[in-house]
Amino acid sequence: MRGLSIFAAATSAMLAFAAPAHAQSDPNPSVNHPDKQSWDLFMTVNADAAGPNDNNAVFETWASDGDTFQPAPVWPTTPSGLQVGRRALGLVLERIHPKIMPQVVPGGADLVSEETRRNRADFDYIVNNNLYKVSGLKSAYKAGNRIVFPVDSLEVKANWVEVDRLGEFNGFKGTPAEAAKIYHVNSTGGKSYALVAFHIISKLVPNWTWATFEHKDNPGRCDVIGCTDDFGAVTPYVAPLSAKESSTHYPDCAKTPALLSMLAKAHIDPAFGNYCLKGSQSDFTDPSGLAVRVGNSVTENGFVAQASCMSCHARAAFDEGGHATTLAGFDPTSIATPGSPGNAPVGPIASSWFWVPGGPPSYPSVVGEADLVRFALPADFVWSVPFCAIDDTASPPETKSRHCSGK
Ligand code: HEC
Repeated sequence: MRGLSIFAAATSAMLAFAAPAHAQSDPNPSVNHPDKQSWDLFMTVNADAAGPNDNNAVFETWASDGDTFQPAPVWPTTPSGLQVGRRALGLVLERIHPKIMPQVVPGGADLVSEETRRNRADFDYIVNNNLYKVSGLKSAYKAGNRIVFPVDSLEVKANWVEVDRLGEFNGFKGTPAEAAKIYHVNSTGGKSYALVAFHIISKLVPNWTWATFEHKDNPGRCDVIGCTDDFGAVTPYVAPLSAKESSTHYPDCAKTPALLSMLAKAHIDPAFGNYCLKGSQSDFTDPSGLAVRVGNSVTENGFVAQASCMSCHARAAFDEGGHATTLAGFDPTSIATPGSPGNAPVGPIASSWFWVPGGPPSYPSVVGEADLVRFALPADFVWSVPFCAIDDTASPPETKSRHCSGK
C-alpha cells in the first residue's frame, strides 16, 4: 500500500508538472522570451507623455545624465527637454582612433546626437548611494559595497538626427511634416530632432535585460551581425547584406500580428510603428560558448562587429580613486590598426577585470588559499556611473561631467 501511495503521489506530481496551467504562465519572460520582453519595455518607455509644448514619450520625462551627474541632483519635476550632446562612444573612439568615426565631425557639428535617461527608481539609487560623484565612488570602493540597482530600474540611451539633416543621414527627401509622421520627432532650442536609434535596459533580471531598436530606414541597419527579432518580425532573422558597416538599405521589418496588436493597443506616438528591434541580449555566450554580439548601427557605429552589450557593460567599474578602470570598455593597447573596430570585450566576464591576476582562480574558500586582491569594483553594468561621475575631489571640484552623453 505504502509503495502504491508513493507511486500515486509521484504520478500526480508529474501530471501537475505537465499541466497546461503551468505551461501557460511564463515565470521568467526576460530570459525565456527576450524579444517579447524588449517590445513590452518599448511600449512602457515610449508611451505618450506629450505636454502642451512638447512631443514627449515617457522616457523623455526622466532624468538625463546631466540631471543626475551634478553637484546637487534633483529629479526633474518639469521634463528637462531634449538633452542632446555628442555620441559618448564616438568621442571615446575619436580619442583612440580619429579616422574610424565618419559621423563624428570635430567641433561638435555631429550628424548624430545622443542622450541618456533613467527612471525614478534608477535615479534615486544613484543619488541615495552617492554614485554620481567621485567621493561617493571612493567610499563605495573602500567599503567593498556591492552595487545592485533596484528591480524596477530602467534606462534608455537615444540617438537623434536634426530633421533638416535627415537627408544627409539616409537620403530622406520629405518635408519636416512628413518626417514627423514616420519618425518620433521632438524639439529643443528651436530645432526639431528625429529619433533614429535607442537602447532600453531593465533590471528585471540580475544582469539586466538588453535591447536595441533602430528606425526602419537606418542605412546599414542589419550589416555585419544581422537583425534578430523572433517575436515582432515576420522574418525573425535577417542576414547581413554587408560584412562591413555600410549604407546598405534593408527592407522594412514587417511586423507580426502579435506585435501589431500590441502597437494598436498602446497609447503611443503612431510614428513608433516605424522602428525595428535589432536584437536583444540575455546572456554572454550561447550554450556552445560562442560570444553573443548585439550592436546598433548608429550607437555602436564603428564597432558593431565587436559589440556585446552585456560584456562591455560588465566592464563598467571603478578603482579606489573612484575612476573608471577602462576607457569605456575598450582596450586601447590592443587597438593597433586604424580602421579596426578596436578590442571591446565580448563573451563572459573575466576575473582579471576586477582582481589582481595571479591569485586563486576561484573564491578563496579552500583552506590555505590566499585572499583575493581587488583593484576594480563593478558598477552593476551601469557605465554612466564610472563614466559620468563628477570629480568633486579635484581642485577646483568638477561641477559638470566631462565625458558622458547629452547634458
Ligand atoms: C564597447 C562598450 C559598449 C558597448 C558594446 C555597449 N555599450 Fe552601452 N554604454 C557604454 C558606455 C561607455 C556608456 C556611457 C555613456 C554615457 O552615459 O554617456 C553606455 C551607456 C549606455 C546606456 C545608458 C545607461 C548606462 O549604462 O550608462 C544604455 C542604456 C546602454 N549603454 C545600453 C547598451 C546596449 C543595449 C548595448 C548593446 C546593444 C550597449 N549599450 C553596448 C559602453 C558600451
